[in-house]
Amino acid sequence: MQEQNNLNLIDALEWRYACKQFDSSKKVSSKDIEYLKRTVQLAASSYGLQAYRILIIEDPIIKRKLVKASYNQGQVEECSHLFVFCNFVNISPKDIDYFIALNSNITGKSMKALEGFQNHLNGAMKSKSQEAMKLYTNKQCYIALANLLIACGTLQIDACPMEGIIPASYNEILNLDKQGLNASLACPVGYRHPDDKYQYIKKVRKPKDNLFKHI
Ligand SMILES: Cc1cc2nc3c(=O)[nH]c(=O)nc-3n(C[C@H](O)[C@H](O)[C@H](O)COP(=O)(O)O)c2cc1C
Repeated sequence: MQEQNNLNLIDALEWRYACKQFDSSKKVSSKDIEYLKRTVQLAASSYGLQAYRILIIEDPIIKRKLVKASYNQGQVEECSHLFVFCNFVNISPKDIDYFIALNSNITGKSMKALEGFQNHLNGAMKSKSQEAMKLYTNKQCYIALANLLIACGTLQIDACPMEGIIPASYNEILNLDKQGLNASLACPVGYRHPDDKYQYIKKVRKPKDNLFKHI
């Protein structure tokens, strides 16, 4: 278990960077992984549908296989845990049934009271083309990823957000097609290697007056 002091939010965001090289000898504790899972579980999502599943891969053989499918980015193998955010290819009426039942169980609202919401969801999802649906669910993954990155920063755990993956290859290696899933993003998590030069580079960010406009 690593020595750690939780950082406040701004310090955490300044501390974090997209880690390119991990120290493969260091493992993130299962306690910290559970904390990170909780922060991803708490992510906002459209209607609260959470139309994704997140694989957490420790198996070295699978991680190695994914290097080529990540344009040879070694982080996916060297990291302690590789998070792969997989978006639903479709949100079916069955998925909505599950979501409504879950809502009813947790909130105590009757299924009858949730019927209007259920009908609205079914209509909204049915109106989407296959492409629009994939894009819609894919976008939700980015919000979950952001939660993970921020949470990692506060625990001084390193991470690298990665869009640089070949989804078709990930889907094949991880057998995602059969599960109605598509690999959207990867995020290796672990501890930075002292040789990773990126940790020593100053953050490049636009000045606030360029980024924001008060009107
Ligand atoms: C959606 C997304 C995809 C990214 N894909 C990759 C990637 O495939 N490989 C990589 O090394 N960094 C990737 N990055 C990291 C960015 O290059 C990095 O966040 C940016 O340069 C800012 O630097 P910092 O995060 O170190 O502050 C990605 C970041 C985001 C948000």
